[in-house]
Amino acid sequence: MARLRILITAGPTREYIDPVRYISNDSSGKMGVALAQAAHRRGHRVTLVHGPLAVAAAQLVSTVAVVSAADMLAVCQRAWPKHDVLIMAAAVADYTPAHPARHKHKKDKPGLILRLKSTTDILATLSAARRADQIVIGFALEDQNERANAESKLRRKNLDAIILNRPEAIGADRAQVEVLIRDAGWSTLRAASKTALAARLIRLVEMLHR
Ligand code: CTP
Repeated sequence: MARLRILITAGPTREYIDPVRYISNDSSGKMGVALAQAAHRRGHRVTLVHGPLAVAAAQLVSTVAVVSAADMLAVCQRAWPKHDVLIMAAAVADYTPAHPARHKHKKDKPGLILRLKSTTDILATLSAARRADQIVIGFALEDQNERANAESKLRRKNLDAIILNRPEAIGADRAQVEVLIRDAGWSTLRAASKTALAARLIRLVEMLHR
C-alpha cells in the first residue's frame, strides 16, 4: 500500500467581531481528529490543520492550529502541493465580519447590525488548484434534501467523494454517514463510533488513490 501524504482539516473556525467576541459553527472537531489518527495508524503522513477544538488534537501527526477561515485557507494553500489527498472535515465559517472592531463593542446602543462578508471556499479553491494525481474529499452537513444537496456540492466543488452527515453528528462520539463517490454512487456506512468510521473512510481514500 502506498504511503500517502494526507492533509486533513478539523473543527470550526472563529471569526472575530471585536477582540473578545466571535461567530463560529457548532463543531467539536472529533471527526477530523479521528480521521487524522486513523490515517496515521495506517502509516500515512498526516498534516492536521485545525480550528479551536473541543477535543485534544491528534497525537503523532503534524498539526497546525488556526483561528479564522482566512488563516485556514492560507495554511492549506501553502501545504496542498506537498500532499496527495485533502479531506476537508472542518466546519469553516461561510461569513466573517466585514469590519471587525479594534475595541470591544459597548452596549450603549439599542441594537447592533453586523455586516458580514463571504469567506473563501477553501475546498473549492484547493480543488480548482489540484494536480491530476491529487484526491479531494469534502463533507456536507445537511438537514434537508440531504443527498441532492451533497451531490450538487460534489459537482460544484469538483470532488472525488463527499461524506454526508447530519446535525445529530455534531459533538457526538458516534455517527452514521453516507458517502457519494464520483461516478460510483452512494453507500451508507452504518452507525459506528467516529473512530471506527474514520478507519473505514481512510480505507476508502486508499482505494480512491489507486
Ligand atoms: N468549506 C470550505 N470553505 C468554506 C465553507 C465550506 O472549505 N468557506 C467546505 C467544508 O469543509 C466542507 C464542504 O465545504 O467540506 C461543505 O461545507 P458545507 O458548510 O456543508 O457547505 P457550503 O459549501 O458552506 O454550503 P451551504 O452552507 O450553503 O450548505
